[in-house]
Amino acid sequence: MGHLSSLRGIKALVFLMPLLLLIIVGCNQAQMQAVRVDERVEDTVSAYSKRMIEEGRDTFRHETFGSEAFWGDALKLHEAIAGEKNNGVGRGLSLRAALDAGLKIDVVKVRDGLLQTLKDGTSPAFDDPATTIELLKAGAIVGLKGFFDEKGGLRSIGINCSLCHSTVDNAYALGIGNRLDGWPNRYLDFGRIISLSPNLKVISDRIGADTASVAKTLAGWGPGRFDPRLLNDGKGVGADAKGATLIPSIFGLAGVGLNSYTGMGSLAYWNAYEINTQMRGKGTFFDIRLSEDERFPVSFRTGDWSLRNAPDIVTPKLAALNFFELALPVPTPPIGYFDAAAAERGRAVFEGKATCAKCHVPPLYTEPGWPMHSASSIGADGFIASRSYEGRLYRTTPLKGLFTKMKGGFYHDGRFQDLRSVVDHYNELFHLGLTRQERTDLVEFLRSL
Ligand code: HEC
Ligand code: HEC
Repeated sequence: MGHLSSLRGIKALVFLMPLLLLIIVGCNQAQMQAVRVDERVEDTVSAYSKRMIEEGRDTFRHETFGSEAFWGDALKLHEAIAGEKNNGVGRGLSLRAALDAGLKIDVVKVRDGLLQTLKDGTSPAFDDPATTIELLKAGAIVGLKGFFDEKGGLRSIGINCSLCHSTVDNAYALGIGNRLDGWPNRYLDFGRIISLSPNLKVISDRIGADTASVAKTLAGWGPGRFDPRLLNDGKGVGADAKGATLIPSIFGLAGVGLNSYTGMGSLAYWNAYEINTQMRGKGTFFDIRLSEDERFPVSFRTGDWSLRNAPDIVTPKLAALNFFELALPVPTPPIGYFDAAAAERGRAVFEGKATCAKCHVPPLYTEPGWPMHSASSIGADGFIASRSYEGRLYRTTPLKGLFTKMKGGFYHDGRFQDLRSVVDHYNELFHLGLTRQERTDLVEFLRSL
C-alpha cells in the first residue's frame, strides 16, 4: 500500500509539475510586469502633470468661461470700450486710458508694425480706442477677451483669471511686456472699468441698490482691488462700505490649507466660487452655507448658492486650473532688493522674539491645519470677515514673494502702507518690545521672502 501511495504521489507530482512551473513562471512574469508598470506609472505621472499644467495655463490665461454673457452681453462693457466711433457708446477706452487703468499688454501678441508705432509714447495711436480694439482682437490685452462679429466689430467681452492675477515685466514699455502669471496686478482699477458700463442696472438690480451708489462704489475701489463678495451679499455698497480687498499673489499656495483672506475653502473651492459667482462663468457651484439669507441675501434670493448652468463649461476645466496654480513657483526678489545680512538677523527675530513664526510657519508661512484668527486678535477690521462664513476670522496670509505686493498696502484691506507699518503694528499689539534695529531687520527679512 505504502509503495502504491508513494507511486501515486510521484505521479501526482509529475502531473502537477507543469502547473507548478506555470505558477512560478507566472509569478515571475507578474513581478516583471509589476516592474514595468511601475516605470510606466512614473512616466505617466510626469506626462499627466505636464499636460495638466499646460492645459491649466491656457485656462488661466485665456478662458472666459462664458463670462461674456455678463460683462459683455448684459453690462455692455464692450460698447464703453469701443466708443461711439466704433459702434459703441461714449468716448471709448483709448490705449492710454486702458494702461492708465492698469490693463497690461502681452507684447508677444502685438504685431510688429503696431509695436513700432507704440515706441513713440506720444503717438496718436495711444489715444484712439481703435488701437484698444485691435489689441483685443490680437488677444494682447491680458485678462480680457473680445468677441467679434463677421464684420470685425466688437460684439462682446469676457474676462479671465489673468486680468487680476497677472502682470507684465514692462520689458517693452510701462504696461507692455511679457506675462508674469500669478503676480497680482496692483495697478488694475477694475472697479473704474466696470463703472464705465452703460448698463450698471444689471448689478444694482441684482444686489438691490441704486445705480448711482453702485457706480460710486465701483469707482471708489481704487487700483489693485476688487470685491469678490459683492454679488453674493451686496454689502460692499453704501456710504462707508469698503468691500474691495487687495488682489493677492497666487503663487506659493501648494501646501496652504485654506484660500482667500477669509479662508472660505480650499483652492479648488475658491476657484469654483470665483469663476461661477463673481466672474459669472457658466458652470456648476454648490455651497449651502451661501443660502443663509441674512449673511448672503443676494445669493439666497438669486439661488446662486446652487448654480446650475447647462451646458456646464467650467467644471471640466477645474482640475487642470488647480494643477497649474499649485505649480506656480514663487519668484525671487531682484538682486540687491534686500540687505542679506540684515535679513538673516531678521529671520532670527521673526522666529524668536517677535513670535511671527507661531502663525507664519516656515516654509509655508501660514499654519498647516486651519489657519484662522479672529480680527481682533491680529488687530484687523472685521467687516470683510463678517461677510464670510465663519464670523470675523482671517486666514494667516502666506508671506512668500511679498516683494510683488509692495503697492497697495498690506492686510486684506491694505490698511498698512508698508512693511514697516505692519511690523510696528505687531510690535504694539503683541507688546513685543522690538528695538529699532530688530524692526529694521525684520522688514529686510520680509523683503527677502
Ligand atoms: C476681477 C479680479 C479677479 C479675477 C478675474 C480673479 N480673481 Fe482671484 N482673487 C481676486 C481677489 C480680490 C481675491 C482676494 C479674495 C478675498 O477677498 O478673500 C482673489 C483671491 C484668489 C485666490 C486666493 C489666494 C490665496 O492667498 O488664498 C486665488 C487662488 C485666486 N484668486 C485665483 C483665481 C483664479 C484661478 C481666477 C480665474 C478663474 C481668479 N482668481 C480670477 C480677484 C480676482
Ligand atoms: C496670531 C497669528 C499671527 C501672528 C503671531 C502674526 N501674524 Fe501676520 N498675519 C496673520 C493674519 C491672520 C494675517 C491676515 C490679516 C489680514 O489680511 O487682514 C496676517 C498678515 C500679515 C502680513 C500681510 C501680508 C499681506 O500680503 O497683506 C504680514 C506682512 C505679516 N502678517 C507679517 C507678520 C509678522 C512680521 C509677524 C510678527 C511680528 C506676524 N505677521 C505675526 C496672523 C499672524
